[in-house]
Amino acid sequence: MRRLLSGMRPTGALHLGHLAGALANWRRLQDEYECFFMVADYHALMSEYEHPQRIRESSVENVLDWLAAGVDPKRSVIFRQSDVPQHLELFAILSIVTPLGWVERVPTYKEQLRELQGRDVATYGFLGYPVLQAADILLYKAHAVPVGEDQLPHLELTREIARRLHFLVKRELFPEPQALLTESARLGGTDGRKMSKSYGNTIALAASPEEITKSVQNMFTDPARVKMSDPGHPQTCNVCGYWKVFEPQGYQRLWEECATAKRGCVQNKRELAEALVALTEPFRAYRKRFKAPSDAAAEVERLLQEGAKKAQAVAQQTMAEVKQAFGLAG
Ligand code: TRP
Repeated sequence: MRRLLSGMRPTGALHLGHLAGALANWRRLQDEYECFFMVADYHALMSEYEHPQRIRESSVENVLDWLAAGVDPKRSVIFRQSDVPQHLELFAILSIVTPLGWVERVPTYKEQLRELQGRDVATYGFLGYPVLQAADILLYKAHAVPVGEDQLPHLELTREIARRLHFLVKRELFPEPQALLTESARLGGTDGRKMSKSYGNTIALAASPEEITKSVQNMFTDPARVKMSDPGHPQTCNVCGYWKVFEPQGYQRLWEECATAKRGCVQNKRELAEALVALTEPFRAYRKRFKAPSDAAAEVERLLQEGAKKAQAVAQQTMAEVKQAFGLAG
């Protein structure tokens, strides 16, 4: 079986965007690949180092959502980056062979320097963000990496670093990792802007039915539709956009009803809220399996320790090969 690796940064609660953009795919990909799913807590630290208190808690909460979404610890290795020190070891070696110009021109770098508000990411470490990501991928000799479009430059850089390393040590240690592009289910935030925690326009997977209903009631709809008798424009309506993502089979009928003014925005929102409450039920139900949140956290810790052992076994093997190739003590 070919190997797959992906990761998420534990910087807060997972939301509907993560479900549509990643988790639904992760679940499915377990049938086709030997999967490694990683809590990228070092990557989170690179932007959150001034306020790292939430990283540990988010790591646990995120893994609960992965499990509830059907990521299966019996079939996949679920682990936390900081439990496997070889990530940093390989990161250091890749940093040595990566030309400065390659990291400086990664588009996400300049963008984040400009856009990450309230965080000073003008650090030595942050420049290496995609090099650490390359280490994550190469450490497990992953063939496939499911990512969103924004991550494609990081995959390209990973391949370039691997090629350079192969050239330097005159042998092939790694397969060329390929991106598995998640067909971008574009989901706007509840206010119609880009969905982002920092805008406060997300719906958390573990949100209560009341919270979900309230968020949906406050959603923006088609501004050109003033009266219910006006025909709607589902292509530009955010609520209708959610139907398209979460009701891919049946959304066309709903869109048709909207466009012919048979369905009003109030009904549309009420039914979307109901659908989203049902969709997110597994995330609440999974947490209810435990008597207390501390029991859930303990169970996740136990799973992460198990996962770390499996990840370490692979990581140790790869590092032994890499160190040997560079004349270092293994
Ligand atoms: N940079 C990724 C993101 O922000 C997270 C990540 C870290 C990752 N390491 C990875 C994704 C390795 C895929 C493979 O989404």
